Amino acid sequence: MSGTCVIGLQWGDEAKGKIVDLLTRDFDVVVRYQGGANAGHTVVVAGQVYKLHHIPSGVLSPGVMNVIGPGVVLNPPVALQEIDSLASRDIKLTDNLMISDRLHVVFPWHIAEDKVMNASPVGGGESIGTTNRGIGPCYRDKYGRSHAIRLGDLYRPDFRDKVERIVDFKQRVLAQLGSSELLVASEIFDEYSGHAERLRPFVADTTNYLLDAVEAGKRLLFEGAQGAMLDIDHGTFPFVTSSNSSGVGVAAGSGVPARWIKKVIGVVKGYTTRVGGGPFPTELTDEIGQRIRDLGHEYGTTTGRPRRCGWFDVVAVRYAARLSGVDSLAVMMLDVLSQLSEVKVCVAYDLDGQRIDRFPSHTEDLRRVQPVWEVLPGWQQDVRGAHRIEDLPAGARRYLDRVSELVGRPIGIVSVGPGREQTLFAS
Ligand code: IMP
Repeated sequence: MSGTCVIGLQWGDEAKGKIVDLLTRDFDVVVRYQGGANAGHTVVVAGQVYKLHHIPSGVLSPGVMNVIGPGVVLNPPVALQEIDSLASRDIKLTDNLMISDRLHVVFPWHIAEDKVMNASPVGGGESIGTTNRGIGPCYRDKYGRSHAIRLGDLYRPDFRDKVERIVDFKQRVLAQLGSSELLVASEIFDEYSGHAERLRPFVADTTNYLLDAVEAGKRLLFEGAQGAMLDIDHGTFPFVTSSNSSGVGVAAGSGVPARWIKKVIGVVKGYTTRVGGGPFPTELTDEIGQRIRDLGHEYGTTTGRPRRCGWFDVVAVRYAARLSGVDSLAVMMLDVLSQLSEVKVCVAYDLDGQRIDRFPSHTEDLRRVQPVWEVLPGWQQDVRGAHRIEDLPAGARRYLDRVSELVGRPIGIVSVGPGREQTLFAS
């Protein structure tokens, strides 16, 4: 067994960090391969809460190598802040972190561009509602190539020239877009040269490192950011992020060929959340939605925005599970659904009077669908102290069985609270 992936199957925030943290002890290397400071992975260890953006959740387990691969876009000051904050809590990053010299760097102009462009509607009168972390503009420059800077470029003699040329161009673009951001090339050069020096011990050719690792039989754990429904190619475009956040992104973002990936764990919540714009067929705008938000602390790790909450959507998750090649499911936050008289699951959509069970490819079709519900009895007992799946109340077990049957994948893990010990493994 070489590669195992942990992939979110909804619109992000499925609590993947907890699963990665739990599995890490069985792996040699944990790899982040897409996304950037837009991601927020929360891990709770011994009552301590760690919020990570770039740094793989494996840093909380000793003896594990953590790799940030070429498909990530890195914001150096944010990454350094994470490293400092971990160090202040006695989690030292020394020879257990590698950052790809091939990855692209987020600069202040990307953040300024994101902020100004995010204000415009992109479909149905809605704007994307990005995290304003410069993610889209950085990936846009990566694909455009002429105005992109990779981490390895920060150590080259022409780095100053590159910054000057790009600042000259970006300042004009930003002015055209109506941004008042003032970019000063010399200040940006000095600041990022400082960041580069601090990051130097971690910068490496991670692609060859990972290829050596798989060929040597090491066990790799790939930690996805966001969720499959936010995938740039296969998600709810244009209300998506700018990377391949479904399972298809692992190989491209890490450099490890798909043939080494042997197992995929799809992470879902027992309900659905979404942050930012875009259609959300099972959204609850009533007091049940608010109850889920309150009990699940459904506020963004990165931006603090309240998350939109809704019932579990089988159509979306089944699509995401197939797309990501999922073997088994991890169902998170089951405790949040306790004490409801009934729980609903969306088993199909009604699109213009026709029942469909495939996820539509066009967002405007998705806006028009009406969920077809299956209503299941709730359970009144608190599940947070359960130690085995068999100990869960009958209503909760029935709910899990039905979700598994409808999605077409077995459930391997159920989480009933934030702590490591509140995790139940299928026998
Ligand atoms: P961006 O990734 O900042 O460009 O944002 C694009 C869309 O993805 C917005 O709807 C964001 O709210 C969403 N998004 C980005 N990162 C995350 C995440 O980690 N969790 C949930 N939603 C995210």
